Amino acid sequence: MVFSKTTFASAFVSLLACATAVEVPKTDYEVIVVGGGPAGLSALSGVSRVRRTALLIDSQQYRNGVTREMHDVIGNDGTPPAAFRGLAREQISKYPTAHFSNETVESIVPIEGEYTAFTVTDGTGQNYTARKIVLGTGVRDILPPTPGLRENWGKGIFWCPWCDGYEHRDQPFGMIGDIHHMLGNVLETHTQYSDIIAFVNGSQTAEGEARAAEAYPDWKEQLAAWNTTIDNRTIASIERLQDGGDNRGENGDQQFDKFRLHFTTGEPVERNALMVNYPTEQATPLPAKMGLVIVDDKINVTAAMRTSEEGVFAVGDANSDGSTNVPHAMYTGKKAAVYVHVEMSREESKSKISKRTGLSHSELAAEADREIGDNLKREWELAQK
Ligand SMILES: *[C@@H]1O[C@H](CO)[C@@H](O)[C@H](O)[C@H]1NC(C)=O
Ligand SMILES: *[C@@H]1O[C@H](CO)[C@@H](O)[C@H](O)[C@H]1NC(C)=O
Ligand SMILES: *[C@@H]1O[C@H](CO)[C@@H](O)[C@H](O)[C@H]1NC(C)=O
Ligand SMILES: *[C@@H]1O[C@H](CO)[C@@H](O)[C@H](O)[C@H]1NC(C)=O
Ligand SMILES: *[C@@H]1O[C@H](CO)[C@@H](O)[C@H](O)[C@H]1NC(C)=O
Ligand SMILES: *[C@@H]1O[C@H](CO)[C@@H](O)[C@H](O)[C@H]1NC(C)=O
Repeated sequence: MVFSKTTFASAFVSLLACATAVEVPKTDYEVIVVGGGPAGLSALSGVSRVRRTALLIDSQQYRNGVTREMHDVIGNDGTPPAAFRGLAREQISKYPTAHFSNETVESIVPIEGEYTAFTVTDGTGQNYTARKIVLGTGVRDILPPTPGLRENWGKGIFWCPWCDGYEHRDQPFGMIGDIHHMLGNVLETHTQYSDIIAFVNGSQTAEGEARAAEAYPDWKEQLAAWNTTIDNRTIASIERLQDGGDNRGENGDQQFDKFRLHFTTGEPVERNALMVNYPTEQATPLPAKMGLVIVDDKINVTAAMRTSEEGVFAVGDANSDGSTNVPHAMYTGKKAAVYVHVEMSREESKSKISKRTGLSHSELAAEADREIGDNLKREWELAQK
């Protein structure tokens, strides 16, 4: 091996780095959480209770913002989403290390160093630094421009039968989507409805039927067994005839919405509730801008909610762990909070037990260079023999 001062310096830096750790970065906040839905709020709660300074930056755009009320969230069955978030904010606000901002986030850029740190820039151009990032940025439902769909979304027209199905139990029910989704829908909902129409909007073609048969060869028989008829006409528009928010039945736990579906041909059909099958996309360009690994339009995470970027965690609907609902959002937010906290604690511990702190990698290299000088050069050369 040919001696070079640089080789020696870099070996010496490695030695120094073992013996001495760098101080953890001094940032505006220890954690920045992006997104104030149940996932982000849970992450904020978790880190606040262990007295981590944290800023929640919340664009105030929520996937369930239009729904009348949440269900299947124990202790909060029937709570409107805004009331739920409001109570969460109020309760978290009592922790002095928790901070809130109602802005969007434009960019998140890593800061070079031994430990992770980031500069977060919001929509007003304000910069904040933080050691760890939790993204609870959510997804958006991709709805076609059919008149009446977006307008009535979340109010009698829904995608999640656990969230919204029960309030429409035993009512005339419709499903809108590709034919291959229909049996899956029925298997999720046949305990709620017995008068079911599958509005497959022109997808009952030879290819469509083949897609349906891939998952269930006897899909047709099964649909018929659950009294499900197929309407293949092209949907032109959806008209609301009645608002279930004001028509709730005797106990208040039913919602009698009523819709009239219009088609490009033939007579319209009336239904009280509609379940749809449409894809989702990331609600913000942030994960892509950050270069995170995205799989099937979800931020890829490990079981610890870690993304492909060290120090960045993703929670709630936006992440890849295959579940999108409020309990999942809360669980993943809480889980990320634990990993974020312990990861920072490990960094602090490593830094604390070192004798000398405060040197960056380049400062260490410079110091190594200085200390090596020419005295050690001889010894190095001897050691090479
Ligand atoms: C941010 O939004 C929340 C929820 O809408 C609201 O309660 C709060 O007052 C807002 N904060 C500021 C600083 O505007
Ligand atoms: C935020 O950081 C950017 C990039 O470093 C800088 O151009 C900008 O002036 C900063 N904004 C403020 C408000 O300091
Ligand atoms: C029905 O299918 C047409 C053609 O593929 C599509 O453009 C439209 O968005 C679909 N409508 C609904 C309500 O899914
Ligand atoms: C079966 O579906 C038909 C047509 O949608 C409906 O008229 C009938 O009431 C349904 N039967 C039951 C038991 O709900
Ligand atoms: C369903 O509609 C599509 C598009 O209009 C059409 O190509 C197909 O033949 C229809 N299927 C049946 C069974 O009528
Ligand atoms: C996504 O994350 C999983 C779990 O950590 C990992 O096994 C997989 O390799 C990742 N996928 C990509 C494309 O990085």
